[in-house]
Amino acid sequence: MYDIKSFKIKENPVILGLESSCDETAAAVIRGNKLLSSEIISSATEQAKYGGVVPEIASRAHTEAVDEVVALALEKAGVTAREIDAVAVTYGAGLLGALLVGLSFAKSLAYTLDIPLIAVNHIRGHMAAAYLVDNDLKPPFITLLASGGHTAVLHTESYTKSQVLGGTLDDAAGEAFDKVARVLGLPYPGGVNVERLAEQGRDCIQFPSAKVRNSDGLKFSYSGLKTAVINYCHNAEQKGINLNAADVANSFQRAAVEPLVAGAVRCARECGIKTVSAGGGVVANGYLRARLKAECEKAGIKLVLPEKKFCTDNAAMIAAEGLIQYRAGNFAPLDINAKAQIPLA
Ligand code: KG4
Ligand code: ZN
Repeated sequence: MYDIKSFKIKENPVILGLESSCDETAAAVIRGNKLLSSEIISSATEQAKYGGVVPEIASRAHTEAVDEVVALALEKAGVTAREIDAVAVTYGAGLLGALLVGLSFAKSLAYTLDIPLIAVNHIRGHMAAAYLVDNDLKPPFITLLASGGHTAVLHTESYTKSQVLGGTLDDAAGEAFDKVARVLGLPYPGGVNVERLAEQGRDCIQFPSAKVRNSDGLKFSYSGLKTAVINYCHNAEQKGINLNAADVANSFQRAAVEPLVAGAVRCARECGIKTVSAGGGVVANGYLRARLKAECEKAGIKLVLPEKKFCTDNAAMIAAEGLIQYRAGNFAPLDINAKAQIPLA
């Protein structure tokens, strides 16, 4: 009988990570904190035809890709299914139908192999990507989290506990990038295309900053910035003025990114913490990465920046968070359900 209390904790377990919360079907294998493989099959090209992620298409694509991506990850890692000690899977937050594909696969694998199932919060996965770049990284550190659904600065106090120091009052940073991409007529996925266009433009339009500092802590707001960009583009269109889209992209990018950099560095200073890490799709942005490097260096802060491919959705980060949960003995029952939303803290 499957009994989660019966599992012994190994020193350097082989963990299969699985991710299917949005449009990437991903699998990765780690042994201890060594990454052996990380594979992704994406439905982004299919989704691009519709200008964004269509949940039903995502679910179907996961169903078609999950077997193949797991087989690929095992093969690249040189590991057989029998050698897996635990399976870590994203159980939320994300698209319910999409999550269920990965979660059901992971449950059957855990049951068949009689190994622990580890239910990973996708956002904790993004935060754990930092451990992939620095095996010696130890809490406490400050994490800048900027994805399509979340924007926050957190104090990672221990491997399993983080405190939210500041966050967005409305839209997430990635959401703003995606909306601006749409108004500029750029294809899905938006963020990376805004970045590419920004490279050809200048920072010459004064858009409102995305930072609001209230007396009760650090707050970001992306809705005002997003609306300002949309109004600017619509005004130009109505007046028949030729819009320099590259300048709009560049000016927006600066207004969106600078507060994130300043917020992370300020939190580190205020908490007296000398290490900053970052995670989430927006952290793949080259301008953000360069600014974060420059400001951390100036402030004498060590920056732990995951590779771009580990900032956007992937399964290596899920395996990395899986290892933390494994070491804490945090195993999930086989009747655990997928969750569309999970609170950040
Ligand atoms: O972390 P992620 O892959 O998925 C979520 O968990 O949300 O983040 C996706 C978000 C999207 O909004 C996307 O536009 C943004 O990250 N993004 C970027 C870049 N690459 C992805 N934003 C700005 N610059 C990029 N290079
Ligand atoms: Zn994500």
